[in-house]
This record gives sequence, C-alpha cells and structure tokens, in this order.
Amino acid sequence: MNAYIRSVGAFIPEKRVTNDDLSKVMDTSDEWIKSHTGIENRHVAEIGVTTADLATKAAKVALERAGLTAEDLDMIILTTATPDYIGFPATACIVQDKLGATNAGAFDMVAGCTGFIYAIDNAKNMIIAGTAKNVLVVGSEVLTQVSNMQDRDTAVLFGDGSGAVIISESLDDESYMEHAILKSDGSGAEVLMRKSGGIKYPFVDGETTFNDTALYMEGQAVYKFAVKVNTELIKELIERSNLTINDISWIIPHQANMRILQAAAKRLKIPIEKFYFNLMEYANTSSASIPIAMNEAYEKGKIKKGDKILLTGFGAGLTYGGTIINW
Ligand code: ACO
Repeated sequence: MNAYIRSVGAFIPEKRVTNDDLSKVMDTSDEWIKSHTGIENRHVAEIGVTTADLATKAAKVALERAGLTAEDLDMIILTTATPDYIGFPATACIVQDKLGATNAGAFDMVAGCTGFIYAIDNAKNMIIAGTAKNVLVVGSEVLTQVSNMQDRDTAVLFGDGSGAVIISESLDDESYMEHAILKSDGSGAEVLMRKSGGIKYPFVDGETTFNDTALYMEGQAVYKFAVKVNTELIKELIERSNLTINDISWIIPHQANMRILQAAAKRLKIPIEKFYFNLMEYANTSSASIPIAMNEAYEKGKIKKGDKILLTGFGAGLTYGGTIINW
C-alpha cells in the first residue's frame, strides 16, 4: 500500500505589497531586492487574520477538489513558524474546529521551512501504517507579523499565505509518494530563529521587546547552507530512484531566494527552467511556499497525472529534506 497527493489548494491574502512600497518605509529599493532575491511582491494578511484562518481557507479548497468533507479527515498536520499561540494549543486544533473536522486528530509539526516535506512524509507513513485514511497537511504562515521592520536584511524577504494537500491511500501504481530524505543540523539553530519568548530566553515583563521575538537571520550563513543542501538533495533523490533529470517534470523548491536555486542549478548542470518559481509574487512564505507553488502549477495546468515532481526544502533548525511525488 502507498499514499498519494489527492488534491492541492491554497489561499493567499489579497493585500499586495510591492518592493517600491517597502522602499517608502525603509532604506531599500526595488533594484536591490530584485537583484539579490528575485522577489518583486509579497502578500500580507490584515491584522487580526491568523495562521489558522489562512490554513482553513486553503484546506477548504483542497477538500473540495478531493471530493471530501471535513468529516472524512482522520488527521490534520499543520506546519508553521508562526503559530496562533506560543507552544500550545496547536494551530492544527484551531483549524480542526473551524473546519468541523470532528473525526480528525490534529497536531503541529515544527521543522522551519522544511515543515511541509516532513509533514507529508509523516502523513504518508500514517496511511501506510493504517493510522489514518485521509490526512490534511497544511503549511500556513503570517510571517509579516513577526518581521522586524527595522531590519532591512530580513523584512523584505517574507510574505503570508497558506497551501494544503489531502493525502489518501493510492488507488493505482502510478500515483504515489516516495520516501522522503529528512535531515537536520541543529548546530545552526541560532542562525535562523525567533529568539525570545520561549524557555531559553523567556519573556521578561518590561524588558523583552517585539524585535526580540521577531524573525532573526544570518543571511549569508543560511545562503551557503541552502545552496549546499539543495544541491545534495536533488542529486541524491534522483540517483536513489535510478532516474535522470529528464525523468523529472518539475523541481518545486522552497521559494526562498532565486539566487540560491540558480547556484544549485549551475552546480548540478540542470536547466533553471526545470525549477518552478513563484517567489517573485509571494516572496518567502516558509512552510507554505512549496504547497503554494504546487497549487499554482496545478491551477496553470503544468502538472498532470504521471508527472514526477521533486520537492526540496531547507530552513530553521536547521532542517532540510526532499522527496519525489508521482502525481
Ligand atoms: N535593501 C538594501 N540593501 C540591503 C538590504 C535591503 N533590503 N539588505 C541588506 N542590504 C545591504 C547590506 O546592508 C549590505 O550593505 P554593506 O555592503 O554596505 O554592508 C549589502 O546590502 C550586502 O549585504 P549582504 O548581507 O552581504 O547581502 P547578500 O548578497 O548576502 O544578500 C540575502 C542577502 C538576500 C539575505 C542573502 O544572504 C540570502 O539570500 N540568504 C539566504 C536567505 C534565505 O534563504 N532565507 C530563508 C531561509 S529559511 C526560511 O525560509 C525561513
């Protein structure tokens, strides 16, 4: 028995902020952002709209396309770096309630921007083990509300959005998920983090500021890590399955920075056209970026049954991972 991606959906907030808009509130420019990242716009959730709100909307699209109701779900796995609450309750439980998924278990999975890859592999394994029949996996982020607007190194990079898939038991030999490669390197924990508010750096009344809890990143350290692991993952996934790059229809990577992917493509001698990008429009939406890109490719008719889609991700932890989906 195996599992397959039965449907995909996404929800993107309407409000769109251009690079020029940002250059009016901080010392940056469209030219710098575009040339260093490829990003042109990002979408921003209105204040009061939460990670669970975006996730619920993406989940409804995926459920409808799967021909299922919320009551058909037995598990909800939500991945996020921006949960509705610190630690608990899980944002997945808020989504479970909003959907009315009365038969589903629900939990959050924290693996930074690699969260979606970790979560879909866990969903597949739950189906193979018989724990669940229909699993909703949703990556959802409101990163603009944890961005430090005084830090131009990071504030220009991130956007909000949500992407979801329904994973069910495979119906045939053609559509199935391969085992993922899931890795980590916790020695890099402090290069990409939200520092304060947890147990190690607790919130101190009157001392802890918003910026202490905001997203912090050492960009160049992450850049080097990202190029290295993306290159390794793509090579290993293709070799492990005895494939060549010609067998892969699309590489859908975590949408962090165009330059990271161009560097990986160059090292691997893979044409950049193999990579599906939409970071120009949505910027980096962390654990939501892969399903948002997958959804867009699906809606544009660029993915069809039988296609092999290679996914790769990297992010806070540090974590990284990839897999091949036989659509
Ligand atoms: N606008 C204008 N200038 C800027 C900006 C900005 N937004 N940000 C930085 N600069 C300046 C710097 O101050 C520096 O100026 P200086 O030379 O006068 O000191 C100059 O640009 C170069 O800065 P660098 O940090 O060296 O720029 P770099 O070329 O490394 O690009 C970037 C920075 C885009 C962040 C790059 O390091 C990167 O892509 N890193 C990986 C980021 C990433 O992938 N993050 C996501 C990973 S995980 C996740 O998704 C949560």
